[in-house]
Amino acid sequence: MSRILTGIQSSGRPHLGNILGAIKPAIDLSKQPGNESFLFIADLHSLTTIKDGPQRREFIKAVAATWLAFGLDTAKNTFWRQSRVAEHTELCWYLNCFTPMPMLNNATSFKEKSDKYANVNAGLFVYPVLQAADILLYDAEIIPVGKDQRQHIEMTRDIAGAFNREYNADIFVLPEARIDERLMTIPGLDGQKMSKSYNNYIDIFLPDNELWKVIKKVKSDSTPMEEPKNPDIDITFQLYSLLATDEQVATMRANYEGGNYGYGMAKKALYELIVDKFKDERERYNYYMIENPDALEAELQAGEEKARTVARATIQRVREKLGFN
Ligand code: TRP
Repeated sequence: MSRILTGIQSSGRPHLGNILGAIKPAIDLSKQPGNESFLFIADLHSLTTIKDGPQRREFIKAVAATWLAFGLDTAKNTFWRQSRVAEHTELCWYLNCFTPMPMLNNATSFKEKSDKYANVNAGLFVYPVLQAADILLYDAEIIPVGKDQRQHIEMTRDIAGAFNREYNADIFVLPEARIDERLMTIPGLDGQKMSKSYNNYIDIFLPDNELWKVIKKVKSDSTPMEEPKNPDIDITFQLYSLLATDEQVATMRANYEGGNYGYGMAKKALYELIVDKFKDERERYNYYMIENPDALEAELQAGEEKARTVARATIQRVREKLGFN
């Protein structure tokens, strides 16, 4: 049984890039027999950058609804909001007192963020310690993350090791990062990596007419309609290929290469494919967001109960060593 854990950012509504690049792979991993996944919405981390309450609430809901819409099994796995399990912040404080300042000073992500933001708050500085608490609280073994998070997992191991050595006991499990190099980057409307910060993303949960308006914005060159086109350099084709069956891709390739097939037609096909392929997910998303938000809340609260049970046991172990029990 492998215990997998990952934190999900809630600094925006999930888009197609998040879904194909992170959410679907994580759900697939959670479905493998023998795996148990702990997946939480890292809403406390979002406070380092987002201060607006209603906006945060909306993003948390959208993130949760997306994971449920894509079929995360909350009976087998544990899915919760970090902010609702107070043990995260409690352990974070303890770990702060075992974390050397120079280690935090050297964190690449902190350097990048402190260059970018006008106001550098202490939360940004101890961000990796809260992340370590998230992981160590659940005795997690495997942490699937993007390359940019490798250093944070290394820091978690260092902090856990320092704590274990101090008390000469195996209080914390040392986690390992799992960085899937094969995970694809999904191109955005302009061909750069799809990202909220580039404002080039596709929100698949938009109503049909708005979704179509977005798909029409996918960048294409000015090859006239009649002429053959090279599918391998076209963004619409790339996006289509990520979602379509092999047969559909082969047909689309033939369309491009045969001529008399315009980019507008390809975009229409991409739009129709998204609507068709994600029909159930779009329905379930709207169910949780609009028709029955209470069901969403109930799922999260049940997850929080499960998470708390595990977190409390760890905190007991830690408090005992620290002389707080
Ligand atoms: N820092 C992670 C990110 O930016 C999110 C995160 C918070 C996380 N806590 C975590 C990831 C614990 C893995 C484990 O993506």
